[in-house]
Amino acid sequence: MDFYAVFGHPVGHSLSPRIHELFAQETAQQLEYTRREPPLDGFADAIAAFRAEGAHGANVTVPFKEEAWSLADQRSDRAERAGAANTLIFGDAIYADNTDGEGLINDLRNNLGVGLAGKRILIIGAGGAASGVLAPLLNENPASLVVANRTAERAHTLAQAFANVGAVDSCGLDDLTGERFEVVINATSSGLEGDVPMLPSSIVADGATAFDMLYGAEPTPFLRWAEHNGAFRTRDGLGMLIEQAAAAFELWRGIRPSTAPVIEALRNDTR
Ligand code: ATR
Repeated sequence: MDFYAVFGHPVGHSLSPRIHELFAQETAQQLEYTRREPPLDGFADAIAAFRAEGAHGANVTVPFKEEAWSLADQRSDRAERAGAANTLIFGDAIYADNTDGEGLINDLRNNLGVGLAGKRILIIGAGGAASGVLAPLLNENPASLVVANRTAERAHTLAQAFANVGAVDSCGLDDLTGERFEVVINATSSGLEGDVPMLPSSIVADGATAFDMLYGAEPTPFLRWAEHNGAFRTRDGLGMLIEQAAAAFELWRGIRPSTAPVIEALRNDTR
């Protein structure tokens, strides 16, 4: 049977096996999908061993996305620009792609009905989670795209790296005072410690959508903050996770699974 796995550290919490199992059922594909947790310095060896076992591909999550990018022989344009890969396809060579941006945009557009063209968009954070989605966001033709980060310097570096794709402004969190955005996306890891970035409350425009790449059984701290400060809609990262998985599944299997029933099933699981 064709087999795949998600590589991360830690990875025990990953919902990817369940998501791909549901996709495989729906599309009548025979495959096995497991979790692998290599030691922090053992990612390349673990991928080599997995390929040697005859695996067809892998998903990659924190903290190995940049290393997955490095060890690939070929990369899609979007992975190339992101500097990080979440999907690997094994053939004679290792091909790397990054479906995170597609996952974010499809969740916003198809599941929430939020288009990005002409919108003022704010991304908070300047790590791998932010860099993975910048180019796909720029391709949606927003009115403006700002990257703001606690460490302003990292935001500037990230914006510069995408200057040839489109206009990205960058700043520190304090510099956002007086600015308003229609789509506010949290790509920081602050919620993992129960924290919210120190943001001016005025950034949430009337009718704004607040999106957190994190998810959980309860609303994340950032989404609670956004709701309190006037967000019209809030959305956690579960739909994005399922949409990025659907894009990976299609790359591997050549068939696009439906995501709505999987989103519903996993919402019920996490409740
Ligand atoms: P990832 O790959 O998940 O993006 P990362 O590269 O470690 O992880 O980046 C984490 C991001 O979350 C960074 O933008 C970080 O801000 P700094 O660059 O200033 O460290 C941000 N972050 C983490 N905790 C935060 C907090 N409590 N408040 C604001 N930003 C935070």
